[in-house]
Amino acid sequence: MTAELTDHEVAGQSETVQETPAWLTALRSALDPNSKRRLEALDPKPDWHSLEIGAGSGSTARWLAERCPQGKVVATDIELGSLSAEGFPNLEVRRHDVTTEDFPEASFDLIYARYVFSHLRSREEDLARIVSWLKPGGWLLLEEPAQFPVESAQDDDYREVSLATLEQYKEQVGTDLTWPRTFPAPLVNLGLEEIGIDGDISVVGAGRPMSLFWGEAIKGWGPIVVGAGTATEEQVERAAAKMYQDDFYDLGLATMAVWGRRPA
Ligand SMILES: C[S@@+](CC[C@H](N)C(=O)[O-])C[C@H]1O[C@@H](n2cnc3c(N)ncnc32)[C@H](O)[C@@H]1O
Repeated sequence: MTAELTDHEVAGQSETVQETPAWLTALRSALDPNSKRRLEALDPKPDWHSLEIGAGSGSTARWLAERCPQGKVVATDIELGSLSAEGFPNLEVRRHDVTTEDFPEASFDLIYARYVFSHLRSREEDLARIVSWLKPGGWLLLEEPAQFPVESAQDDDYREVSLATLEQYKEQVGTDLTWPRTFPAPLVNLGLEEIGIDGDISVVGAGRPMSLFWGEAIKGWGPIVVGAGTATEEQVERAAAKMYQDDFYDLGLATMAVWGRRPA
């Protein structure tokens, strides 16, 4: 799959803003339905002020902006190449590094992040700061990828190359896909209330969205994994090809969600 031009999904208009990487488009397709379901379950009020951290291509931030027309959504990321507020007067896009920058105390009714904190080495300290940005009674919702279904994958190439890729992610970036399996503990430890957890497991193969995302990840990290000596080039090629193969089925990453409220 190659990079593609992405149309923003705005009712009645279509603005081609920039090139969104194929993996981000695939991730959005794989995850948006469950994310919207979980956000909807928090019953956002029309005037809520929300923050999405690491918003990527911004599809959920735009959805929230439409859902809360009298409120405001701030969508942050360290990379703004795929993020635009055009057509959404109550959406603000801001370059902001969650590991080093702050927002004022009690700014938001809802703070949301998807597939961000598992990548951050300082995740526990960052979450403790972020809770202070919530208004009393405000909600924090996290959705993060977990590797446990991949650990029991039936296909040797797919399992070994995937775990070798995750090992390199951890070494080079700090990504820890065992952390989301500890939910809800991180939010319980922060003293949040009305805690809930939820999870869903993806299936890879046959060109499913999560499969396209993971195929891109395996291909992109292939040279690093091969260089580390934990998989061969042939194994990486076979595993990546299976992600697009019609008759291949195995379990992909799970998405673990956790939410809780700052005490009133
Ligand atoms: C795996 S992507 C997920 C994107 C989006 N949340 C989604 O689910 O489609 C991780 C995102 O987090 C952003 N990110 C990484 N480190 C960050 C940081 N320190 N502060 C803010 N955003 C960060 C990346 O630029 C990227 O857009």
